This record gives sequence, C-alpha cells and structure tokens, in this order.
Amino acid sequence: MTPDLMEQGARHFEEAQAKAAITGHTASGGRSAGFARLAAPVGEVDITHGRILYLEDVSVSFDGFKAINKLSLDIAPGELRCIIGPNGAGKTTMMDIITGKTRPNEGSVYFGSTINLLRYNEPQIAQMGIGRKFQKPTVFEKLTVFENLELALKTNKNVKSSMLFKLDSSQGDKLADILQTIHLSSQVTNLAGNLSHGQKQWLEIGMLLMQDPKLLLLDEPVAGMTDEETARTAELFLSLKGKHSLMVVEHDMSFIDTISDIVTVLCDGSVLAQGTLAEVQNDERVIEVYLGR
Ligand SMILES: Nc1ncnc2c1ncn2[C@@H]1O[C@H](COP(=O)(O)OP(=O)(O)OP(=O)(O)O)[C@@H](O)[C@H]1O
Ligand SMILES: [Mg+2]
Repeated sequence: MTPDLMEQGARHFEEAQAKAAITGHTASGGRSAGFARLAAPVGEVDITHGRILYLEDVSVSFDGFKAINKLSLDIAPGELRCIIGPNGAGKTTMMDIITGKTRPNEGSVYFGSTINLLRYNEPQIAQMGIGRKFQKPTVFEKLTVFENLELALKTNKNVKSSMLFKLDSSQGDKLADILQTIHLSSQVTNLAGNLSHGQKQWLEIGMLLMQDPKLLLLDEPVAGMTDEETARTAELFLSLKGKHSLMVVEHDMSFIDTISDIVTVLCDGSVLAQGTLAEVQNDERVIEVYLGR
C-alpha cells in the first residue's frame, strides 16, 4: 500500500472515530460489539430491578484475617441506608470495596443491575457517580468556599484548562442551590480554613454534590460535630434522600434514630441484623455484640 493510501485510510478512520464520539453512531448502527450488551446506555445506571447497589457474598482477607466475610447487601435508589456495627466490623472496608480502593477476594459488587464495579478503578467509579466522604474533612483550606465548590466541577486535570475554567449559568445556579443546601451561603467568600469542623464537613459534601452523585457513601459524617451541627447534618441528609442514594456509617445512635429507615448491622464482616433501629436494638445478637464484648 502506498503512503498516500495509508494516510488517506488513517484520515478516514480518525474521521469515523470522531463522528462516532460525537453522535454515538458506529458503522454497525450504534451498537458496540461484545458478548454482553448493557441494558442501559453506557454511563447510565440501570435501576429497573429496583436496586442501585448490590453486593453478594463478598469476602476480603488481610493476611489471613477475614475483614469482610460473605457480605451480601443491597440498596434501593433514593434510599438512605444506615450502617452500624462495632469497631472493626468492616464498615469502612465495605466502602473501600464499593469505591474500588480494595479488591475483594470473592463476590460480586454491582452498581445498578449491569455495572460490575469490580472491573473499574477508583477514579472510574467516582466518575460513574459514586461519591465518597471520608471521616476527616478534606477541603482546600486556602481557597474560599466558592472556589472549593467550583473546583469540584473541574474534572479536567489539565492545568491550563482548569485555569481557564468558568462556570456557565446553570453551573452557577447549581452552586448557589448547593450553598443553600449545605447552609454555607453566608460563608461563600470565607476561606475554607476558617470554617468550623462541621462546616468543613458540609463543604466537602457540597463538593461531592457538585458532581451529581447517584450514590453517596458517608463514613462517620457527624463524628466531632457539635449537637447543633449534628442536627443540621440530619436535616441535610433527609433533604438529600430521594434525590440521591445514601449509605451512612455512624456510631451516633441518636443521629441514626433521626435519619434512618432501614438500619443494617455489620459484625465480623457480614450482616448480623437489619430492620428499623428499634428492631435491631432489640435483637439479642445485636445487644450481645454491642454489650457482651
Ligand atoms: N488494609 C488493611 N490491612 C489489614 N487489616 C485491615 C486493613 N483494613 C482493615 N483492616 C482490618 O479489618 C477490620 C475491619 O476494619 P474496618 O476499618 O473496616 O472496620 P470499621 O467497621 O470501619 O471500624 P470502625 O467503626 O472502628 O471505623 C479491622 O480488624 C481492621 O484492622
Ligand atoms: Mg471505619
């Protein structure tokens, strides 16, 4: 083949690729080849089976110690699920598995009914709409509240495009809405470093909300908060319920009492009990693990 023809072929290929990327059309009529086809378009979570998160028989061992042991659990779209359990029960490890930080030795983890999360890495899982809040607030202390929220939208890691990034009007409206939701409208020009511990936690939740997460995982969100901040956080989570699915790990039982519908009790890496808080608190096995050790 002559260099000319090769160049022409390469150009055609590039044009076809660019067109497919823009329109979603391919030579085979928009279907991508593969043995299994997703029921929902790529990037969308298929919740037609009524579940947004599904774990089955998941186990992980650290040096022979089973931190997660045949764990099965599922969550409905829009649900606010509370997870409780004694120290070392595996609550944080479970979140590590869902977010791709830790790989289980066995079991299945699905986002909706079609996305096998075990095939993806941490950044890809975050990109798909699973936001995670660690216990310690991680905001940019030297930036203002506004800048922190704005930064959350900058998915492009390229420095130049980040510097040139400007909010469009719908993003501006969204930022204003989120400021209200997280009770920080009056702090918009304040440096994040000047906020109280509770306000930093809300700001970080706001940064997650800027990315429109479908599922939010929150690990001990009210630890270290004042009673008033805890009460406001309860209001915040109740307002997020329905719009997002939430999984909240907490030791603060009065907080759990305010926000919970279904509570799952983890112990030794598996589900020990599940039900309303009153139900699980009256369960002999739960009383045993909390008081009997
Ligand atoms: N990377 C790791 N290497 C070794 N052991 C680990 C690792 N991560 C967790 N573990 C162990 O797994 C068990 C479960 O830990 P995990 O942090 O998930 O518990 P938890 O339920 O979040 O506890 P807490 O309520 O104290 O936060 C613990 O015994 C812990 O020491
Ligand atoms: Mg933990």
